Amino acid sequence: MEYAIKEVPSASLKQKNLENLKFGEMFTDRMFVMEYSPKNGWHNAKIEAFHNFSFSPATMVFHYGQEIFEGMKAFAYKDGKVAMFRPMENLIRLNSSAERLCMPKIDADFVFKALCELVKLERGWVPAKKETSLYIRPAMIGTDPIIKVRSSDNFLFYMILSPVGPYFSSGSKLSKIQVEDNYVRASKGGMGFAKTGGNYAASIKAGMEAAKKGYDQVLWLDAEERKFAEEVGSMNIFFVIKDTLVTPALNGTILPGVTRKSVIELAKHLKIKVEERKVAITEVIEGLQNGSVSEVFGTGTACVVSPVGTLGYKGSNFAVGNGEIGKYSSILYDYLTGIQYGQKDDLFSWMTVL
Ligand code: COI
Repeated sequence: MEYAIKEVPSASLKQKNLENLKFGEMFTDRMFVMEYSPKNGWHNAKIEAFHNFSFSPATMVFHYGQEIFEGMKAFAYKDGKVAMFRPMENLIRLNSSAERLCMPKIDADFVFKALCELVKLERGWVPAKKETSLYIRPAMIGTDPIIKVRSSDNFLFYMILSPVGPYFSSGSKLSKIQVEDNYVRASKGGMGFAKTGGNYAASIKAGMEAAKKGYDQVLWLDAEERKFAEEVGSMNIFFVIKDTLVTPALNGTILPGVTRKSVIELAKHLKIKVEERKVAITEVIEGLQNGSVSEVFGTGTACVVSPVGTLGYKGSNFAVGNGEIGKYSSILYDYLTGIQYGQKDDLFSWMTVL
């Protein structure tokens, strides 16, 4: 399969302003698009000008949410090169989400090539300042203009690019997380492991209620017993318990984060003990009280390694550590971002340098 590259006339290129970047509000000049039909499979692949789509109001994705997406990043190196962080991992996960939502798989090698080309064409949009990057958002939607509940037959896959600053714009580096023991994000047999809009839609109400009480995000517990930690709104969660890095084991309801996996690999390389297992919320709260839990942090493409300063549970707030960013969060953040920005050796061959 081939993709076409449509020229974008220089007169229609946007004014670039890469100062004071927020998260996900600005998009580059070009995008990748391809269509799927049962007869032609994936076809009509092209890189073209970033543009709005036009769809029937009956289009399936608007009604039944047959949608999946990914999030990955490209970084500017000091020498002017641009590199993407583990893009194949995200494309493989996209196919796992596609399988769960009865959507057609993409040819990951083909999409990877097209993505390299797209980012190369848009390299002028990759911001160079500290904590900035080019966020890559692939997405797939069901496009049949029919409101019967079934899988769409036709789909659209696209990738857009957004120069971004830090995900959390609040001044504080330490976030305040509410343990959510009423609403649930995903249950066994559901879609928790898939990156699909529905999981995020399901999280909004809890997030809004927590925000009203001054929290940044919620920590989800398991749906069956509301006992075990699962993940946070936009990130996986880690606890440092007696010098061991502990994170909830992937069990079908948790998103298998690429940053989560990378942090585990990095920690093992740094000889930090890692456990993937069930983590009872009572173990965490008791540990915060008796000092055996010294750090809590989230990981994600958007939020990188994001330390938590306070956990709210059943109406009380529990401080994590001494109000400073913890030792392990700092080491892992510095190492990971060092690799991502080309300042440390790419020991694990994670970077695709363009
Ligand atoms: C990411 O970390 O890339 C995410 O997808 C989280 C959020 C922005 C939806």
